[in-house]
Amino acid sequence: MKAGFLILSALLALTSCASAFDPSPLQDFCVAINDTKTGVKEGNTSNPLGSKVSPVTVNEILGLNTLGISLARIDFAPKGLNPPHIHPRATEILIVLEGTLYVGFVTSNPQNRLITKVLNKGDVFVFPIGLIHFQLNVGYGNAVAIAGLSSQNPGVTTIANAVFGSNPRISSEVLTKAFQVDKNVVDKLQKQFWWDNN
Ligand SMILES: *[C@@H]1O[C@H](CO)[C@@H](O)[C@H](O)[C@H]1NC(C)=O
Ligand SMILES: *[C@@H]1O[C@H](CO)[C@@H](O)[C@H](O)[C@H]1NC(C)=O
Repeated sequence: MKAGFLILSALLALTSCASAFDPSPLQDFCVAINDTKTGVKEGNTSNPLGSKVSPVTVNEILGLNTLGISLARIDFAPKGLNPPHIHPRATEILIVLEGTLYVGFVTSNPQNRLITKVLNKGDVFVFPIGLIHFQLNVGYGNAVAIAGLSSQNPGVTTIANAVFGSNPRISSEVLTKAFQVDKNVVDKLQKQFWWDNN
């Protein structure tokens, strides 16, 4: 009985692992509507983060439907930051087109190991699916990067926005204990406007 349960749990784990990714397409393409897209414009970085993500997912190109791939252009003003975030459904591969970026991601518990690199024009870096990652412009001018993502709909959860800017707010009793700070710190963070750069 116990062995049977273990095998079932293992099977469930395998199944949930397999279904967490975009399925293999069953046809060459599956365009819902007749549309075309001719380019990704430069993003407006005049905002509190100094960065703008311009996504090209299935929402922008319907022809990506069922193909398990998308991309994003990221523009950075000097000192601009793409703040810590995750893509729940995609691994990301990033190439720097212009400028210098300090990038990194943190592995999951218990190590929480930070892995970082300074990238120059032409350099490539991979952010594994589901891990918290960020990019900061540490060069003197603007920076531009292109990211390829392994889902037609990668999704974005910006950590600060989700934790402190949720709607409705997460109870301060939860956040004071989770972050080990006083309620006034949590109140201040929850009152802040959390800019969404994508
Ligand atoms: C899609 O657009 C192309 C180019 O405008 C046109 O030739 C074609 O007939 C359209 N197809 C449909 C199904 O509307
Ligand atoms: C960029 O955004 C700022 C702030 O919203 C706005 O004032 C400015 O006109 C925008 N620039 C362009 C070129 O759209």
